Amino acid sequence: MEVVIAPGPVLAGLAADAVERLLTDRPDAVLGLATGSSPLPVYDELARRHAEHGLSFARARAFLLDEYVGLPADHPQRYRQVIDTELVSRVDLAPGAVHGPDGLADDVPAACAAYEQAIVDAGGVDLQILGIGSDGHIGFNEPGSSLASRTRIKTLTSQTREDNARFFGGDVAGVPTHCLTQGLATIMAARHVVLIAQGRGKAQAVQKLVEGPVSARWPATVLQLHPHVTVLLDDAAAVRLQLADHYRETYANKPAWQGL
Ligand code: F6R
Repeated sequence: MEVVIAPGPVLAGLAADAVERLLTDRPDAVLGLATGSSPLPVYDELARRHAEHGLSFARARAFLLDEYVGLPADHPQRYRQVIDTELVSRVDLAPGAVHGPDGLADDVPAACAAYEQAIVDAGGVDLQILGIGSDGHIGFNEPGSSLASRTRIKTLTSQTREDNARFFGGDVAGVPTHCLTQGLATIMAARHVVLIAQGRGKAQAVQKLVEGPVSARWPATVLQLHPHVTVLLDDAAAVRLQLADHYRETYANKPAWQGL
């Protein structure tokens, strides 16, 4: 696990560099896309590189991490809508190349199994962009999630619903109670995971992720078992890390030939 502590714009640039390098090497790469606030500066930077430098997503495919259950197809907070607004409409990703769990499915287990199969059929996710919840979730794998889980329905914690009420006009009651989410084992199958966390509200979850014992209590800790994870943190998110100085020194002395 590589930990990089830097100002927000630098973090977004590093994540965008990883995406750009991947798409340059493999134009038909498979991206894993998170929603929420954390990746927005990365999507802004990718849109800028597309507009100004012609970075192309034309042959790329993408899979969303998760989706709320029951939001109407045209609801602005449906994650499929959010990603269209924040990324797809600003680059040349073909709309049909972007997939998400079906939060309106009648047969939820079948929809989840089909989603898992679609990821496998695409060859797996090359680069997964992640945020982290203040309760340690990744995707919507809330505390207690099986470390071996696959795409399935989950109940959101009240903490997550309170955190996300800001997207629903501050109304916690408007936040769906359930979601479909890639499981922890699904996320672990991605070849490179790039997690971004900013702000003091993420500091405890980040400390557990990087330095805590691996436990379903803090689901993000499963990433300690992944061979290629990059954790991008601003100073506030890194404030509880016991070895922050070591991570800073390591990154400052990183060989120039080593990418993320
Ligand atoms: C979003 C997702 C969630 C968020 C997390 C952090 O697709 O899967 O795990 O990444 O809730 O959300 P923000 O970035 O809004 O703080």
